[in-house]
Amino acid sequence: MSPDAPPLPLEPFRIKAVERLHLPTREEREKALARAGLNLFNLTSEEVFIDLLTDSGTSAMSDRQWAALMTGDESYAGSRNFVEFERTVQDLTGFPFVIPTHQGRAAEHLLMSALLHPGETVPNNMHFDTTQAHVLRQGARPLNLAIPEAYDPQVDHPFKGNMDVPRLEELLRSNRKNVPLVMMTLTNNTGGGQPASLENLRAISAVCRAQKVPFYLDMCRWAENAYFIREREHGQEGRSIREIGRECFGLADGATMSAKKDGLVNIGGFVATRDAALVPRLKETLITFEGFPTYGGLARRDLAAMAVGLLEATDLDYLEHRIGQVRYLASLLDAEGIPYVHPPGGHGLYLDAHRFLPHLSASELPGQSLVVEIYREGAVRTCEVGGVMFGSEKPAPGTPPPLELVRLAIPRRVYTASHLHYVAETLKAVWRRRASIGGLRIIEAPERLRHFLAKFGPSPKRVSTTGSTTITRGKARSRANM
Ligand code: F0G
Repeated sequence: MSPDAPPLPLEPFRIKAVERLHLPTREEREKALARAGLNLFNLTSEEVFIDLLTDSGTSAMSDRQWAALMTGDESYAGSRNFVEFERTVQDLTGFPFVIPTHQGRAAEHLLMSALLHPGETVPNNMHFDTTQAHVLRQGARPLNLAIPEAYDPQVDHPFKGNMDVPRLEELLRSNRKNVPLVMMTLTNNTGGGQPASLENLRAISAVCRAQKVPFYLDMCRWAENAYFIREREHGQEGRSIREIGRECFGLADGATMSAKKDGLVNIGGFVATRDAALVPRLKETLITFEGFPTYGGLARRDLAAMAVGLLEATDLDYLEHRIGQVRYLASLLDAEGIPYVHPPGGHGLYLDAHRFLPHLSASELPGQSLVVEIYREGAVRTCEVGGVMFGSEKPAPGTPPPLELVRLAIPRRVYTASHLHYVAETLKAVWRRRASIGGLRIIEAPERLRHFLAKFGPSPKRVSTTGSTTITRGKARSRANM
């Protein structure tokens, strides 16, 4: 570790309940990989030692949240838990209308089906996979307008989640009628968990208000975004997370939320808006697909836990530890020069698979290959965010190739610094044998959201970039086992 490495992240909590973990043997891991078709979504949790697949719904709830569960008033209509939950979201965001859903994508479903029409374009800094799927499902076109720095993993920029405002202005100037809403994802999950600045949100808001286009936030990780604003943006250092949040929400017309992230719950979400005219349309879809508006597909006790979690996620000690964990893990990799997206993100560290496995072409799925090798090495489960998740057999003309990343998402309040050391050692072992790692290909996959259901196999025999060796998958594996 370098002398200016970040300090050991000190847990601002102590452990009250524990869950046993088992480290599967190498043989068990090989069997699991074969059974799973090399897709880690198909593993059982018992086949995994450290699970960095996602930070979504994987948080440890606090004693206060568990206590809140016991206060569940399971009335179908008008539960007091809904009233508390609604008040909490109104206080945090300033949005008057709050509609609970069972998770974030259900909120996206409600909003997109109310606002979008076929042929329209939805700009976002970068769409997350489910957001993109909901735009496509309405026959509309998702358009990513992140700043150019977002596409270069090596560039250090404090707000890589920003939107390119001149491009947004140009789009609205030339084609306003075709844009039903503008969205911003806080933080930019697809681009490395990177934040957007308050200045950028102000500029987008001004453009949207001038053109009368609704502006919505995907607020899954808004508290982490506010932490970065407080840390990095001039004049923001003295403000609380909630104050910064209120200003961000004040710039928008509404938001979708997966509370499985910065709501610190295992299930839950909502859509919130200031647009009274939109509410009946949202509620109609809600009742058809989710449930009555005072429970939205959740048990009422889940609303109670969410109301507590939404507030706990704004605690500075908690956020310092959380973002400190990501930075600490990054610092453990620096000694070996393992390439990741700079700067480290809010909810996870994203490895740069093209730089990690430069001998593999994009068609050999270096991200997925790396995910498999990290599991094979140490039973650490990670997630590809690249050509498998965002690529397509038939990309639209002019679509830039997606970043090829492997996300190490850190669940909230779950793992200790020792676990992070174990992860770093696993990654170092993979890094040292990287030259022997072969590529993969998709054997079967559905058209949309294919990363969840695809099966993979070794890519065909190929000549390495040095031109001197032919590496087959079999050889790569036997060397890895030495
Ligand atoms: N928006 C963003 C930015 C997300 O990261 C997610 C979920 C959603 C919307 C959908 O929310 O899962 O509650 O339906 N992200 C998870 C992840 C799945 O692993 O990043 P959901």
